[in-house]
Amino acid sequence: MDERPHDHGLIGGPEMDHHPAMRITDFALERFFARWEFAVRHLLCASDVEGWRMADLVALADDETAALWADLRLGYSEAPGHPLLRAEIANLYDSIEPDDILVFAGAEEAIFCLSNVLLGPGDHAVVTWPGYQSLYEVGRAAGAEVTLHELREVDGWALDTDRLVGSLRPATRLVVVNAPHNPTGMLPTAVEWAALTAELAERRIHLLADEVYRFLELDPADRLTAGADALPRGISLGVMSKSFALAGLRIGWLATRDRELLARCAAFKDYTTICSSAPSEILALIGLRARDVVLERSRRIVAANLDRLDGFFATHAQRLAWVRPRGGSIGFPRLLDDEPIDSFAARLVEAEGVLLLPGSQFGVAGNHFRIGFGREDLPQALAGFERFLGTPARP
Ligand SMILES: Cc1ncc(COP(=O)(O)O)c(C=O)c1O
Repeated sequence: MDERPHDHGLIGGPEMDHHPAMRITDFALERFFARWEFAVRHLLCASDVEGWRMADLVALADDETAALWADLRLGYSEAPGHPLLRAEIANLYDSIEPDDILVFAGAEEAIFCLSNVLLGPGDHAVVTWPGYQSLYEVGRAAGAEVTLHELREVDGWALDTDRLVGSLRPATRLVVVNAPHNPTGMLPTAVEWAALTAELAERRIHLLADEVYRFLELDPADRLTAGADALPRGISLGVMSKSFALAGLRIGWLATRDRELLARCAAFKDYTTICSSAPSEILALIGLRARDVVLERSRRIVAANLDRLDGFFATHAQRLAWVRPRGGSIGFPRLLDDEPIDSFAARLVEAEGVLLLPGSQFGVAGNHFRIGFGREDLPQALAGFERFLGTPARP
């Protein structure tokens, strides 16, 4: 049992022993978006699906949620999450009860709390990479040693289960797998997933399954068993931002049968947001109860855009390499020109107002860039990209 001060539930006096704090490294991708997201015409690298209009979402409410919305009082809300919201989230899983759910301000807060609770000096974690930086950076800042499990384009970005298992150590406390994956669209096969989850269950290692793109599998038959259902120490990370197209709500959650871990995360959350935004909880509940409609819309947008990308990449195969994603709303193509992707992307945004996300923001060498296909302006964005490809390359 871990003996860090915060586990005792005591208030630290002057004699309390603290680990030296480490300053967390900047989140490169989020700094990039802070600079560009609201300054360009077309975000051809967004990871979310086109957000719902508020009025359209509220129109989906049933009698109960319409009344909750109309009568909402803007006091503090219940710290673990609104009971009806937790019950609705639990319905997304096979073996999960409402008390196995903890609601957060987006997936990001959940990652921050969980990494701090599970990882500290002397601990080891394995995290898929390239990836969403907080999935490994928060653990590092907490003092843990992190092994990045590198996905490679030559393998079609596939997860290498044997290599991943080979990197486990006696000190490994956590394995993080994001699938469908940001930025590659990787999705393990059911066989690979079963092998990995069985191995982790056997070794009693926690698995954080970042499933924020779950339900956007290109073939629904490829949807994996949720991490929370796959093993007792499995933790599913979900959010309203991506497949549910409601990023502005900032509602995410952890689902796990490990109640002791969830209680520690709840105690940590007292230092971040305490409880969720009351309006967002009700709007999330409306969205989840209407999830058939909500997810159908997302899948329709993504499928139509992916068709367009198939044509686009076929036309430009001489200049762009593309591994078709198996799920999610993003992919990670590569520019084959000699020009570095950062300079190419800078010229593209200057000329056409179309933003790509260079692989350098993930710390990846080579000429990869992230492309997003969840937005409704993708045809216009792609037209701008196409015009730009038609102009002479940099001398
Ligand atoms: C893999 C992954 N995990 C977590 C998050 C964080 O989600 P949110 O911004 O909704 O908190 C993102 C957002 O891009 C993501 O791509």
